[in-house]
Amino acid sequence: MQITQPAPNLFETILNHLKEAVVFADHRGRIQIFNPVAVEFFRIKEKRALGKRFERVIPYKIIRKQFNSVYEKREGHHDIELAIHVPAVSEEEAQILRCSFYPVFDRQEAFIGCLATFADITEKGLLSREISQSKDLSTIGMLARWMAHEIRNPLSSLNINIELLRDELREEIHLAQKEEIQSLLNFISYETLRLENNLKEFLDFNRLPPLRFEWVQVNEALDSIVHLLRPDAQMKNARLEVHFQRKLPLVKIDVSQINLAISNLLINSIQAVSEKGEIHLITRGSKKNVFIIIQDNGVGISKEHLHKIFDFMFSTKPTGSGLGLSIAKKIISDHHGEITVKSEVNRGSTFRIRLPLNPK
Ligand SMILES: Nc1ncnc2c1ncn2[C@@H]1O[C@H](COP(=O)(O)OP(=O)(O)OP(=O)(O)O)[C@@H](O)[C@H]1O
Ligand SMILES: [Mg+2]
Repeated sequence: MQITQPAPNLFETILNHLKEAVVFADHRGRIQIFNPVAVEFFRIKEKRALGKRFERVIPYKIIRKQFNSVYEKREGHHDIELAIHVPAVSEEEAQILRCSFYPVFDRQEAFIGCLATFADITEKGLLSREISQSKDLSTIGMLARWMAHEIRNPLSSLNINIELLRDELREEIHLAQKEEIQSLLNFISYETLRLENNLKEFLDFNRLPPLRFEWVQVNEALDSIVHLLRPDAQMKNARLEVHFQRKLPLVKIDVSQINLAISNLLINSIQAVSEKGEIHLITRGSKKNVFIIIQDNGVGISKEHLHKIFDFMFSTKPTGSGLGLSIAKKIISDHHGEITVKSEVNRGSTFRIRLPLNPK
């Protein structure tokens, strides 16, 4: 195929936009492809990497070993997790890369080089460690479903963009590497479809039990939480007081999930107060709603943080995972209710939950 006009470099565009590092070394081990994420991971400029042998470019022995093995055995290794120590970042902290190494052959089956991809999964690794430390299974289930949703949205927009690229490619008559690009696109599209199907299966079959609503007296449900958490407050010499309105109207709720939400709030209050702290748990009823109010005289929340506290994984605590409030908010909104907060630094915080008696 001949190039009659400068071909828009689709191939390069794809490589530049991938979130993974992509490195290709030819049959002599000389680097021919080194995309921007590879530059970031291996801290060497593309210009300096191209044409050099991979041993001189890749600063990590464990990764060089994988390349060598492809050259020796002509076999790939997929999804291996390797920990690398980036000296500039920290002596102790490792970055975890998920890597795949593929031997590449031409149409005559001759070996033409090794393609390697690297994805940084350090954060995910940390996340799974945090999850494994958490004993609350319902929290984990909810978190997992949440994540699945979060991944599914960008994934479908990715698919649309792949289709757009495919359409554009179809119109390119004079593009030299059209076939290669097409097969690369097929590969990406296959992988995203696979991911999408896995997520779909997960969401369909592995969801949390649906909300199990029952008519209850909120005071009774709250009593059991107070009973459980009072010792924690006492350990800090703090008081946990209840002020329940008698004859509160019944509400239709999933008791275990509402309990999870309220305990998250109470735990935050216990953590926020110092010695001689006070935490008040108040209930009120109106014609249309039941209100649950949690008030503490703890450290309070700065204006700067206040709008972020319900965000997934936002935390100001050294060992906090930042899940408590985001989960509480999700539960309350599943009940068609509302959660609001008022807070002042060094004076305390008040969280107010509204649960409608007749949710639409
Ligand atoms: N009662 C409170 N007093 C002061 N700050 C609070 C209070 N409740 C929440 N916060 C702030 O909101 C942040 C988010 O709270 P959230 O419960 O979601 O996460 P966390 O408590 O940090 O971690 P986790 O609950 O997952 O253990 C906290 O880190 C803290 O800064
Ligand atoms: Mg918390």
